[in-house]
Amino acid sequence: MRVKKAVIPAAGYGTRMLPITKAQPKEMVPVVHKPVIQYVVEEAYYSGIGDILIITGKGKRAIEDHFDRSDLPKKDKYTEELDKILDEVNIFFVRQREQKGLGDAVKYAEAFVDDEPFALLLGDTITFPPCTKELIQVYKKYKTSVVAVEEVPLEKVSLYGIVKCREVEDSVYLIEDLVEKPSIDEAPSTLAILGRYILTPEIFECIRETKPGKGGEIQLTDAMRILNTKERMYAYLFKGKRYDIGNKLDWLKANIEMALDDAEVGEGIRELIRSIEV
Ligand code: G1P
Repeated sequence: MRVKKAVIPAAGYGTRMLPITKAQPKEMVPVVHKPVIQYVVEEAYYSGIGDILIITGKGKRAIEDHFDRSDLPKKDKYTEELDKILDEVNIFFVRQREQKGLGDAVKYAEAFVDDEPFALLLGDTITFPPCTKELIQVYKKYKTSVVAVEEVPLEKVSLYGIVKCREVEDSVYLIEDLVEKPSIDEAPSTLAILGRYILTPEIFECIRETKPGKGGEIQLTDAMRILNTKERMYAYLFKGKRYDIGNKLDWLKANIEMALDDAEVGEGIRELIRSIEV
């Protein structure tokens, strides 16, 4: 079955981005020309997705406003690009009623997803080139859930879901187990879930079976651990760039790296960097 739908959870608090996120969603934090969530919606669109569900929550109304069609008399090219995308995709919204974790947020997508595989893109993560497009290719071959991973330094494993797996072909691994935010001692590998997934609808039943885990929240990784006992799951090693806009250092790095590549501001940033003595 073709992957036609995407779900973008954008309901979590931005505690690692405070006070920037005190009165605005972390998904609306700017990276060069656009807020993070716009990159995520564009990734879904450029991966061939036609229907997108954004799961928002308390304090996240600015996200809905951002995806209204612009009525500005004169538009910049980024707003025009977004309006063009809005002509071609359907964007729906649902609100997570209380903060109970990523697994709980994903549960709100059940009616939208119906009985189809779907792409899941975390709303505070940017990937280049579009990781979802690559995951869909892997899904087409294996026809079951696939989770994008990347290597992280050992001292960072406790920030991510970590997978235990064995390689079946270049960059594709069969998942044996998954652990949400393990300590260094508990981590089964250094392959971290980076926030892009293709999931089968069986995940919803697994979420219902999931008990509160790390931080007392319903963790998606715990639900996937149950899913892994019912069907095969694969991990795909993404070799592109991935920025986690949920923390300040990565957000600043994303701005600098992406600004350096940008036609409008790249030269100015290069000059600035050359002039700074460190
Ligand atoms: C979430 C997931 C985690 C994943 C991470 C990627 O954690 O629970 O498994 O590795 O996103 O960014 P969060 O960053 O919301 O704490």
